[in-house]
Amino acid sequence: MKKPAREMILVLDFGGQYNQLIARRVREDHVYCEVHPNTMSLEKIREMAPKGIILTGGPNSVYTPDAETCPRELFEMGIPVLGICYGSQLMAHILGGKVETAPTSEYGKTEVTITGRDSKLFRGVDEKTVCWMSHTDYIAKAPEGFTVTAKTPVCPIAAMERTSDNLYATQFHPEVMHTVQGKEMLRNFVYDVCRCTGDWKMDSFAKETIEALREKIGTGKALCALSGGVDSSVAAVLLSKAIGKQLTCVFVDHGLLRKDEGDQVEAVFGPEGPYDVNFIRINAKDRFLAKLKGVTEPERKRKIIGEEFIRVFEDVAKEIGKVDFLVQGTIYPDVIESGLGKAAVIKSHHNVGGLPDFVDFKEIVEPLRLLFKDEVRAVGRELGIPEYLVKRQPFPGPGLGIRIIGEVTEDKIKIVQDADAIYREEVEKAGADKNLGQYFAALTNMRSVGVMGDGRTYDYAIALRAVMTSDFMTAESAQLPWDVLSRVTTRIVNEVKGVNRVMYDCTGKPPATIEFE
Ligand code: XMP
Repeated sequence: MKKPAREMILVLDFGGQYNQLIARRVREDHVYCEVHPNTMSLEKIREMAPKGIILTGGPNSVYTPDAETCPRELFEMGIPVLGICYGSQLMAHILGGKVETAPTSEYGKTEVTITGRDSKLFRGVDEKTVCWMSHTDYIAKAPEGFTVTAKTPVCPIAAMERTSDNLYATQFHPEVMHTVQGKEMLRNFVYDVCRCTGDWKMDSFAKETIEALREKIGTGKALCALSGGVDSSVAAVLLSKAIGKQLTCVFVDHGLLRKDEGDQVEAVFGPEGPYDVNFIRINAKDRFLAKLKGVTEPERKRKIIGEEFIRVFEDVAKEIGKVDFLVQGTIYPDVIESGLGKAAVIKSHHNVGGLPDFVDFKEIVEPLRLLFKDEVRAVGRELGIPEYLVKRQPFPGPGLGIRIIGEVTEDKIKIVQDADAIYREEVEKAGADKNLGQYFAALTNMRSVGVMGDGRTYDYAIALRAVMTSDFMTAESAQLPWDVLSRVTTRIVNEVKGVNRVMYDCTGKPPATIEFE
């Protein structure tokens, strides 16, 4: 697809852990931003013509043999550069300053004194401001022509700049939330130093993408595997606005979705919904349950569900026959691998990964491959997709099949669906979902004795899970308010037949996983 000309900031990735975050922050300020490996050639960079370049942090010291680096010319291209952490040290090192092991490493929230009160980077920033530090080396001597603009008691050059060349550097990380005025600093760099105007808006993205898709697909036919998740839904709506009935959406309902989810997807994409597409829903619960009978081992369940999904889809694909385009909901974090921004392959989670093998198509279209998740949601809202679909949490392809410990049966699916719906309803009602990355109910395989009314019960325990996470690689168990947990517990044991205990999972990841399988 033709990429429209727009101003952009280039992030050169030196392997730090916050690199995607830098791009997200810049984009939140309405400036398009891409992450690329630090090895990107100067020629490519010139071609890309970024308005500014940000060098990220990284795990190395500039003195490590084979440390990631960049050519000196990068600083002489007339493009503003902001070096962050390792990036700042690299700038100092390459331009003739001195980098040394700091006598005291700094890690965590640190009070920084902004000494350069007229620095463009720190316009509107308090003289004393809390920033996130994480370094063992530091800049001991700034290169010629640089002015020191910030310090801490143990880091004499916490920021420096050479305004004649628009070169800026911070030892701390403005992109992380703990740097209290980091957003202002990045905004200052992007708007005041790089002179961006802010032309990255989700309404224009939607409009331009629809036009580009229409042009690309022409009179061709496209096929989209809808999972009901945010990415495939937004991709399908973009396509439907571009090519209408030339698009066929196939929704395989394996019966392991959350309560009412299958019907919600149908309400949006089916014949009664607002979009003019061909919609095929396959209700395949019985097929999946038959295959899962007697199976208890989680990895085995995943395999069976994944394989059956492909089989069901294969049957439909045969009926549909040849299509020109296969739509994939790949998003930007799938494209930039964490680490060094190397281009990655097509998203490979089980429910779409196998499709290209047997669907007869000419080309893959990925209308969301430039977007972060929050941007996908913003486009979804722009397109008028209902909020319950747009803000949907991540949900594993094998669905409730893996949130039921032990054998999956129809009764257990109903128990976990009902308990999960109550949990989500109460957490949302209490507004306790604001900082949660994911929260759901799972069904343990444990039954125990309880008492209800005058009778003894021997029923299942539901496990509630809620985690806070920024990248889903690690997570902390969230401290949900006790009154919310208590209300959820009362409602679950009263309203869900077959449950007499509710437990809260306090484990982080690691050592547990986010899913409870
Ligand atoms: P874990 O449980 O490994 O999960 O900590 C990390 C994130 O990945 C999601 N997840 C999946 N997503 N297909 C998916 O599309 C899957 O098979 C799958 N398994 C786990 C999980 O919900 C969490 O967000």
